[in-house]
Amino acid sequence: MKIGILGAGGMADALGTQWIRAGHEVMVSGRDPVRARSRAESMNAQAGVPGARAGSWAEAAGFGEVAMVGVRAEGLADVLGATGTALRGKPLIDVTNAGPDRHDPARPLARLIADLTGGHVVKAFNLCHVDVWRMRPPVFAGRPLAVPLCGDDATALGLVRELVRDLGCTPLDGGGLDRAAQLEATAAFVIGLWFGGADAQAILPPLAGSGAHLPS
Ligand SMILES: NC(=O)c1ccc[n+]([C@@H]2O[C@H](COP(=O)([O-])OP(=O)(O)OC[C@H]3O[C@@H](n4cnc5c(N)ncnc54)[C@H](OP(=O)(O)O)[C@@H]3O)[C@@H](O)[C@H]2O)c1
Repeated sequence: MKIGILGAGGMADALGTQWIRAGHEVMVSGRDPVRARSRAESMNAQAGVPGARAGSWAEAAGFGEVAMVGVRAEGLADVLGATGTALRGKPLIDVTNAGPDRHDPARPLARLIADLTGGHVVKAFNLCHVDVWRMRPPVFAGRPLAVPLCGDDATALGLVRELVRDLGCTPLDGGGLDRAAQLEATAAFVIGLWFGGADAQAILPPLAGSGAHLPS
């Protein structure tokens, strides 16, 4: 699969490198073409295959059958504005968070991205730190990490499920794009706990102990 990544920072590096290892082609992009090129070179060196290249925001948006938005929330409007109509109707992975202190439940980033691009947005990968996405594979206590996906478009969801499995993770249906706001709120909440030194995973029971509300 060809994957255009808006961003050349940590998330572009971590996820993009995993995907080129899995045989995909990736184009990263940033504000500084020299830095973006150097990021692509470093990804190729880490992966041991020449699957990454760099381009402009518009080139990355038009590059593949799927794109990923991996930029800081404060840059979203400028970056997406620079992509023109290239993302319209395209599967678009949104990994963004506003940061625990800037999260605004009334203005979900996933909805903003969908409105600005006309893309088929799937919110994913926003709950875990970038170092988790570098793990090969992200498995904790013998259990592969589950990655919730929120989106409305069946084709886009199918592609993102495949990219989740490429990391050795398990895709989890998180509902439609209207539920992406809850994923963003969850990230803001648990990141706040982690920043405070708490084990956020300990706040939830395993399924078997989660109460008598399962469908029979
Ligand atoms: N880091 C994590 O652990 C993590 C985990 C989950 C989700 N996320 C989310 O994923 C997104 C990317 O995170 P990251 O860790 O990859 O960030 P990063 O390493 O700081 O990279 C940020 C990227 O955003 C671009 N950008 C565009 N406009 C910007 C602006 N006005 N200010 C700052 N950067 C701008 C940067 O361009 P240049 O290349 O030109 O600098 C860079 O490519 C963010 O929304 C973040 O909240 C991060």
